[in-house]
Amino acid sequence: MLATKSSARTRLRKSSRRRNIDRVRKATISLVAEPAVGLRLPERQGDMPPRIAEYLATHDFDSACVVIDTDVVEHNYNTMSRALPVGQIFYAVKANPADAVIERLASLGACFDAASPNEIDLCLRYGVSPARISYGNTIKKQRDIQYAYGQGVRMFAFDSDAELEKLAESAPGAMVYCRLLMECEGAEWPLSRKFGCDPEMALRLLDKARTLGLDPHGVSFHVGSQQTDLNQWDFALSRVARLFEDAGRRGINLRMVNLGGGMPARYTSDVRPLEDYADAIMSAMVHHFGPALPEMNFEPGRSIVGDAGVIQAEVVLISRKSDDDDTRWVYLDIGKFSGLAETMDESIKYRFVTPHDDGVTGPVILAGPTCDSMDILYEKAPYELPLDLKIGDKIQILSTGAYTTTYSAVGFNGFAPLQSVCI
Ligand SMILES: Cc1ncc(COP(=O)(O)O)c(C=O)c1O
Repeated sequence: MLATKSSARTRLRKSSRRRNIDRVRKATISLVAEPAVGLRLPERQGDMPPRIAEYLATHDFDSACVVIDTDVVEHNYNTMSRALPVGQIFYAVKANPADAVIERLASLGACFDAASPNEIDLCLRYGVSPARISYGNTIKKQRDIQYAYGQGVRMFAFDSDAELEKLAESAPGAMVYCRLLMECEGAEWPLSRKFGCDPEMALRLLDKARTLGLDPHGVSFHVGSQQTDLNQWDFALSRVARLFEDAGRRGINLRMVNLGGGMPARYTSDVRPLEDYADAIMSAMVHHFGPALPEMNFEPGRSIVGDAGVIQAEVVLISRKSDDDDTRWVYLDIGKFSGLAETMDESIKYRFVTPHDDGVTGPVILAGPTCDSMDILYEKAPYELPLDLKIGDKIQILSTGAYTTTYSAVGFNGFAPLQSVCI
């Protein structure tokens, strides 16, 4: 009996929450860009984009190269804009700062999350107004804050006393937001421990920001990159909403929640569609804040560019460690130090396409070409590749548009850094 009543109440709460979300969406839907027509996209998220397949069929490379399809970037941006019409999208430049990516996103009206003066300059070069740039790194040199402020940037992240003091000195009156510490459970590439502070400290710092003449604008968090647990936003937002209330009681008027990134690209495992993430997020927002929502900023990186890129690599060597060993070692001309850093601890598991994918497969350990024994991509994960695979074969690594070029060493062991082409 009790259970029935409470589930009826839950259903009621859910349907009224749904109505609130729909109301918020309807009120803002006119701001959303119409879907671009004529973009050629893969049938399934994370599959080989047809334009990249055509490009690879007619181009050859001496060393590993990532090809980015800017139409897929546009499609991903538009999908997110439509799914989260109340939010402002600040593309996380660090995910892929290729000129053509920034140019395309700037032309679509995106805002940008920059981590350094170089990333700020890049956005400004493409005509992005400084009002559309957020300096989201919580670790900044004093002179870099001064530079950003001089360029007109007015929104800055912080998570410590010392950073706040730097901001007060070099960015007087700026809008500042405090990053909260998160556990990042469920994330394949967690961003825990290093960033953010606990809510009590955040409240004290936001108060201090006001005392220092800064504008305590809001609160940010990041639930960890490639986040597979949709509930993580709900956990985070319950803390954020409590902090908003506590701040309000002290007369601090917070107006913005920055919900970071975390939405996924598709690697070896299927992922939920972006719309499911948007629903979970909006539902949590309405649940914790009611219909009068604060400004919502998002900082997606991986979900915008990840599936837009494919790396073309080459098989350099295939060998075994003993004559009766079943497992082959497959060495590629790309490794941990030339773009595939996210294979660290085998966190991100990429998909491989070979010219022999119809044939029989056997177990492999995949490794990079350098003289460093850390340069092993997958040893524990049960990867299999065709038995027909041979030295010199070209191999494609899917969904490698995010966090690859920028992680590539400039010339470790004398190997060229990951090349990049945008089409
Ligand atoms: C501050 C900040 N915002 C956004 C992102 C982008 O996150 P994601 O690639 O998971 O969307 C990152 C990733 O490191 C980040 O550090």
